[in-house]
Amino acid sequence: MTSFPQLRHRRLRGSENIRRLVRENKVSLDDLIYPVFVTFGQGVRREVASMPGIYNLSIDTLLEEASKVAEAGIPGILVFGIPEEKDEVGSGAYARDGIVQQAVRALKQKFPELLVITDVCLCEYTSHGHCGLIVGNTVDNDSSLELIAETALSHAEAGADMVAPSDMMDGRVAAIRQKLDQAGFTNIPIMSYSAKYASAYYGPFREAAGSTPQFGDRKTYQMDPANGDEALRETRQDLEEGADLVIVKPALAYMDIIGRVKDEFSCPVVAYNVSGEYAMVKAAAKMGWVDEQKVVLETLVGFKRAGADIIITYHAMDVARWLKEG
Ligand code: PBG
Ligand code: ZN
Repeated sequence: MTSFPQLRHRRLRGSENIRRLVRENKVSLDDLIYPVFVTFGQGVRREVASMPGIYNLSIDTLLEEASKVAEAGIPGILVFGIPEEKDEVGSGAYARDGIVQQAVRALKQKFPELLVITDVCLCEYTSHGHCGLIVGNTVDNDSSLELIAETALSHAEAGADMVAPSDMMDGRVAAIRQKLDQAGFTNIPIMSYSAKYASAYYGPFREAAGSTPQFGDRKTYQMDPANGDEALRETRQDLEEGADLVIVKPALAYMDIIGRVKDEFSCPVVAYNVSGEYAMVKAAAKMGWVDEQKVVLETLVGFKRAGADIIITYHAMDVARWLKEG
């Protein structure tokens, strides 16, 4: 006679060791990409008010930070640039001596092993703060493509290991792939922000990068948060155009998209744990309302469970420390 209930899921939860044996997912150092913000000047280390622990760094202090990242065993960084000057056409984005180009050269010289990935967009460099060129009163798709591709090429020439277009213009992956290939950079992968939503969670980033649109919003190019099927169409197109890895962004409110993209395409999927997600945890932790370490590790393993292979996160350095401490 067996006693009721016969199925007891708790049998596999009885001790930490049995939980270890049946655990399906884990967050590892191998999964992490750490975003960094590089700016002009010397000795700059300016904390972003809404992102405690994240700084605007000049190239010299970025190199110090990069040595810690490499030492922590994090495979790669994602570089964002904050230029000294902006203009209508975002010249700083594709200037051969632009801030990102200089930073990449310095980084690769000093840390040849560390993967240096660059965010490819115009919004940090345009006076209007949009991700493409303004023609009339719209953000013009086709005239932006050439400049975006040129930006990616300038990053590759500086030594970037990978480029990550975040502009959401149609056809940008093809434009970049063609431009890189023609210049001989056939082995530089493209990590495309394929399903990038028009999100309020980018607020702190825009403070960090000074890239808030001066008029209007990004809804004519970034995706509507209400749409899921469309994310698959966007991702399919990027893969057909030559994207090697695809990003879903933001991550937390879009876990279903991470899962659907993984199921549909079985390609490397990247979850971008964005600035607003980071800021919320930091704020609540500071108030003593949540346990930062536990909340962050739970969130990241959630991304893995949802289907992400890689996680871009501002928490990466803390996570590396926590993983090391066990
Ligand atoms: C630039 C870009 C943004 C982010 C990454 N690349 C901001 C935006 O699109 O407004 C957001 C990153 C974050 O919030 O952490 N196109
Ligand atoms: Zn942009």
